[in-house]
Amino acid sequence: MHKNQGPVYYNDYLMLEKFLSCQEPLSKKFATKENPEAHDETLFIVVHQAYELWFKQILHDLDAVLTTFKKPTVEDSEFSYIIQRLDRIRKIQAGFQNNFEILETMTPMDFLEFRSLLSPASGFQSTQFREIEIKLGLNTVDREGIDREFFLGRLNEADRTRLSGLEAAPSMLRLLEKWLERTPFTNKENFNFWTEYQNTINKMLAEDKATIEANAAGLSDKDKQGQLENLKSTQSSFDNLFNEEAHKKVVADGQRKLSQKAMLNALFIMLYRDEPMLSMPFQMMTILMDIDENFTTWRYRHMLLAQRMLGSKIGTGGSSGHTYLKKAADNNRVFADLFNLSTYLIPRSRLPKIPAEVKKQLNFHV
Ligand code: HEM
Repeated sequence: MHKNQGPVYYNDYLMLEKFLSCQEPLSKKFATKENPEAHDETLFIVVHQAYELWFKQILHDLDAVLTTFKKPTVEDSEFSYIIQRLDRIRKIQAGFQNNFEILETMTPMDFLEFRSLLSPASGFQSTQFREIEIKLGLNTVDREGIDREFFLGRLNEADRTRLSGLEAAPSMLRLLEKWLERTPFTNKENFNFWTEYQNTINKMLAEDKATIEANAAGLSDKDKQGQLENLKSTQSSFDNLFNEEAHKKVVADGQRKLSQKAMLNALFIMLYRDEPMLSMPFQMMTILMDIDENFTTWRYRHMLLAQRMLGSKIGTGGSSGHTYLKKAADNNRVFADLFNLSTYLIPRSRLPKIPAEVKKQLNFHV
């Protein structure tokens, strides 16, 4: 604990003189009699700066999480700090979604009063936003062609070099993958969980097939065929999860990011989340999904703001505007694999029984 080192004055501590003199509308600088200062440019600057401040706090917490999470083993006490900080990031995101509403009190015509002064500056150049994306796990190679081009092309040399360098460090996604791969419990001497799980799935699918056959009397041939085809596609999606080669192919195609081992262990955590030892890992996966969802919501919300302000005009950074932003929102997901695990969930009542020895290890009273 630090001790007081002498009297502190509020304005000095927060450096408010400096901080509050950082809002300088260009329309004020270039104001003339015919073109006076655009009143709403101050709001435009304040809202952007407020976001950048929150991005700074997110990076502060994310950096601390990454430093701890990249250790070869993470102690329980450290794990609860990781969860606490990720939870803070999720809450910050939830809090800043509404800032767009405040910005929308500026009408598109008020925006036009100063918009051309901003060109070619753009949110593309928010290096803090890019840093968050990279540190969470979105790399240049994951971006779609046009997004990749803009990502690299709109930054100055120094920022581009720094951000590209960050991609070499392990991201939250890659650390999560390594950590999931290390998760024990699923393959013990007398217990191969996945064999048990596959048997249960096969039984369930056979029951579903029998139900379709039994109800076939009331169905047309086409409907029955359709239902059996759907069942086949469910079967093949389960097969893909268990087939290492098939899994590698979907990763290479960019449809999945996590390794097969990490996916299977994440699924085990989801299925047995009620076991005490799996509760914190489940909590962490849930928060990461929330963070991913909050960024996606932010992206869609921002896309709607851009459409409201610009219609189908292009952005100051040169993109197609809201159509580009929609594509980025659809594509730039980091933890979508965790969402897609729901495909493989089964009812609690059908979960394979875990042997007593493994069950004991999943309990705190070992
Ligand atoms: C009048 C308000 C706004 C409009 C019309 C607008 C419009 C746009 C457009 C069209 C783009 C695509 C790039 C381009 O061509 O310039 C973009 C990107 C971006 N904007 Fe905004 N924006 C607004 C406010 C904000 C605010 C308040 C933030 C908060 C920091 C922000 C952050 C970003 C970021 C991070 C990107 C890059 C997104 C990506 O490439 O995935 N924007 N914006």
